[in-house]
Amino acid sequence: NIVKIHGREILDSRGNPTVEVDVVLDDGSLGRAAVPSGASTGTREAVERRDGDPGRYHGKGVRAAIGAVNGEIAAAVTGMDAAEQSAVDETLIALDGTANKSRLGANAALGVSLAVAKAAAVSAGQPLYRFLGGADATLLPLPLFNIVNGGAHADNPLDFQEFMIAPVGADTLADAVRMGSEVFHTLRGALRAASHNTNVGDEGGFAPTMATAEEVLAFVRQAITDTGYTPGTDIAIALDPAASEFYHGGAYHYRGEDRVRTVEEHVAYLAGLVDAYPIVSIEDGVAQDDLDGWKLITERLGDRVQLVGDDVFCTNVTLLTDGIKAGIANSILVKVNQIGTLSEMLTTARTAHEAGYSVVMSHRSGETEDTTIADLAVATGCGQIKTGSLSRSDRTSKWNQLIRIEEELGSAARYAGRTTLTGQAV
Ligand code: PGA
Ligand code: ZN
Repeated sequence: NIVKIHGREILDSRGNPTVEVDVVLDDGSLGRAAVPSGASTGTREAVERRDGDPGRYHGKGVRAAIGAVNGEIAAAVTGMDAAEQSAVDETLIALDGTANKSRLGANAALGVSLAVAKAAAVSAGQPLYRFLGGADATLLPLPLFNIVNGGAHADNPLDFQEFMIAPVGADTLADAVRMGSEVFHTLRGALRAASHNTNVGDEGGFAPTMATAEEVLAFVRQAITDTGYTPGTDIAIALDPAASEFYHGGAYHYRGEDRVRTVEEHVAYLAGLVDAYPIVSIEDGVAQDDLDGWKLITERLGDRVQLVGDDVFCTNVTLLTDGIKAGIANSILVKVNQIGTLSEMLTTARTAHEAGYSVVMSHRSGETEDTTIADLAVATGCGQIKTGSLSRSDRTSKWNQLIRIEEELGSAARYAGRTTLTGQAV
C-alpha cells in the first residue's frame, strides 16, 4: 500500500521546471517518475499546469501542480494498493473532475500515475516492462532516431520538425542503436565538410541552416550510404513535419522557401518526397485541424507509408476513435503526458491495435533522465519508439535502457525491425 507521495520541482532538458514524484509503499519500495514537456503541443492535449508567476522561472514554475500532488492527491491516494493501477488512475481522474485535467494539472496526475506503477513493480521484484507487460513482453521496438531537428525544436529555417532514421534491417536493438550512431557521426562529418554547423537542437539532432526538406533528405540518404548501409533496406527514413505548426488560414506556409502551399499542393509535395526517398513513416504530415488534409493524405499515401497521428489524436481514445471512424491515419503516436495517466495511455494503445493502427511510443522535446517510456514500449509490445537522437543524455538514456532490457531478456528478446510499420506497400 502507498504510504507516502512527495512531489518536487526539478529541471527538464530545456532547463525549464517540471514535476517529479516519489511514491513510497509500506514495504519500503520507492517509485520515482519525472514528467516531460512538449514544445509543439496539440491543442487538445491534457493541460500542463504552470504557475504563471513571472517572478519565478519566467512564469513556468510548477509549484501549484506540486501542491496538488502533496496535498489533494496524496490525501486521496495514500493507503491505496499500488498494484491497482486503474483504481489509482480513476481516483486521479475523478479527483481532477475536468475532461482535460486542467484543475490539478496533467503534469501532477502523470507524475503520480507513473511513480505508482514503478513502485508497484519494485514491490513485485520485477522490471517495469515485465510487471506491466507480463512474460510476453519481449518485443524490442524499432527506433526512430531524430537526427536532424527543425521547426519548433531548432532556430534554423527548416519547416519540418523531425528527420528520422529507422534501422529496419538491424538484427537486434543494440545493433539498431549502433547503426544509428554510425550514421549520426557520418552525417556530422558530411555537414562539417559542407561548412554547415553541427550544433544540435532540442532533441539532440543536428540543426543545420538549410531551407528545404530535400536538402536534408539528400544529406541523410548520403550519410546512410556512406556509412555502408543500403537506404530503405538497412535504414529507412521517417518524417515528422509537425504540420500544425505551419498551417495557417487553410494553407501550409513554408518559411524556408518563402512559399505557401494549398492543402492539395502540400500533400502532393509530401507524396513527391515519398517517391524520391526511402520514407516509411510520416507523422503529422498535415495539421490537427485539417481534417480534409488528413483524408487526402490517407487516401494518397495510406497504402504506401505509415501515417502517424500525433497532434490530431493527442493519445486521447475519443479523438482516436473519431479518427478511426473517419478513416484517417493508420498509426498513432502515444505520449503519456498528452493524456495524463498510464491507464488511459494503455487504453488508447489497445484501441489503436484493435483497429489495425500501429502505435509509436514517444518522448517529448522537453525530457528528463527518466527512462520509463523505454519500458512502456516493451510492456505494450508496440514495436516502435521515437525518443530523439543519438546524442544528449536525456535522449540516449532511453536507448541505453532498451539495450539493458534486451540484454536482460537474453534469447527471449525479439527485435521488431519493420514488422509493425503500417501502410507499407507489399
Ligand atoms: P513536442 O514534439 O514534444 O515538442 O510536442 C514532439 C512531436 O511533435 O512529436
Ligand atoms: Zn509529432
